[in-house]
Amino acid sequence: MRPVLSRRLAGFGTTIFAEMTRLAQEHGAVNLAQGFPDFDGPDFVKDAAIAAIRAGHGQYARTIGLRELNAAIASRYARDYGLEFAPETEITVTSGATEAIFDAIQGVCDVGDEVVLFEPYYDSYRAGVCMAGAVPRVVTLRPPGWSFDAGALAAAFGPRTRAIVVNSPHNPTGKVFSQEELLEIARLCREHDVVCITDEVYEHLLYDGRHVPMATLPGMRERTITISSLAKTFSLTGWKIGWAAAPEPLSEAVRAAHQFVTFAVATPLQHGAVAALSADGGYFDDLRKGYRAKRDYLAGELSRLGFEVYPCAGTYFLCAGFSAFGFDDDVAFSRYLTESIGVAAIPPSVFHDTRGEGRTYVRFAFCKKDETLREAVARLEKLCVSR
Ligand SMILES: Cc1ncc(COP(=O)(O)O)c(C=O)c1O
Repeated sequence: MRPVLSRRLAGFGTTIFAEMTRLAQEHGAVNLAQGFPDFDGPDFVKDAAIAAIRAGHGQYARTIGLRELNAAIASRYARDYGLEFAPETEITVTSGATEAIFDAIQGVCDVGDEVVLFEPYYDSYRAGVCMAGAVPRVVTLRPPGWSFDAGALAAAFGPRTRAIVVNSPHNPTGKVFSQEELLEIARLCREHDVVCITDEVYEHLLYDGRHVPMATLPGMRERTITISSLAKTFSLTGWKIGWAAAPEPLSEAVRAAHQFVTFAVATPLQHGAVAALSADGGYFDDLRKGYRAKRDYLAGELSRLGFEVYPCAGTYFLCAGFSAFGFDDDVAFSRYLTESIGVAAIPPSVFHDTRGEGRTYVRFAFCKKDETLREAVARLEKLCVSR
């Protein structure tokens, strides 16, 4: 029999998150690999979803999202960033940010179009681009500063460029793109008439300063698809409630894909999402405060143990160089950490197209209970600095 997997998908294998989580379970390792909290989301959000189930909201929702949820998303953008979106025509509720990213790429790209990605990238970007028959053009972010070469970015834009995907705060590096960097990306988008797909799922996890949505920059609202979700902000990664906010022509492109990908998203969870988005400022402050303390604890301990810890300005990930332990390959080191030390981490080289990039550090997720982080550190004590 011929191989059953299509050529389009054959190169991707299993996502590293599923693979490392499986390996962590097999070896009883503390899972600092996959970015999901090991604590639950807030009761006021869960209660709203439970009430919706009990009230009989068990049928398909509108394909574009529950009317109340589209309105709640629009008012959050207005309140948080002064960005006005029409709830009915400019907001689409999706199954997590992941679906919104996929829909956006399928919606705007034709076969042979090019899409600029920053590597290391969240792995669904590349898969989405390739499934659309488009071609990724990568620009590399390198530690410790994670800045990009402006010349390399300009060179990645050309006559076939259809879109760029920007993720700030950035997974896996913890980088927050500076105002200058965002302005440079915006300038190139305008100059080359390119759609900007921004993945802002960590918008509420910045440790200094405030998040700047790409759509707020001059000339960008009309060419940006702003994507976010409940997952990281409300510690509800399993709910898969996300959205895309964009001007009408771009929203129509997203919806053209969305109607055939999932059609609609879990109705009771959308009711829960309405409650989540009405949270007051105190909720977001507490979230940041809690994560800042976890970041500082883990960063301090990793440094003490001999890791070279890179700055993390946003997200709940820390990247750390491991050359002190005599390894020179992130995949080998991640396996060793999981199997022999009992702590799982992510090897970032899998988020690169360019061979050899991302091999010198690993990513730890600190979205875990304090006791989980303490247990991970206790196990990491077994690492020996090679001299
Ligand atoms: C950068 C980035 N985008 C999107 C997602 C997925 O978001 P969702 O769970 O809402 O699909 C993640 C999850 O780790 C992420 O890190």
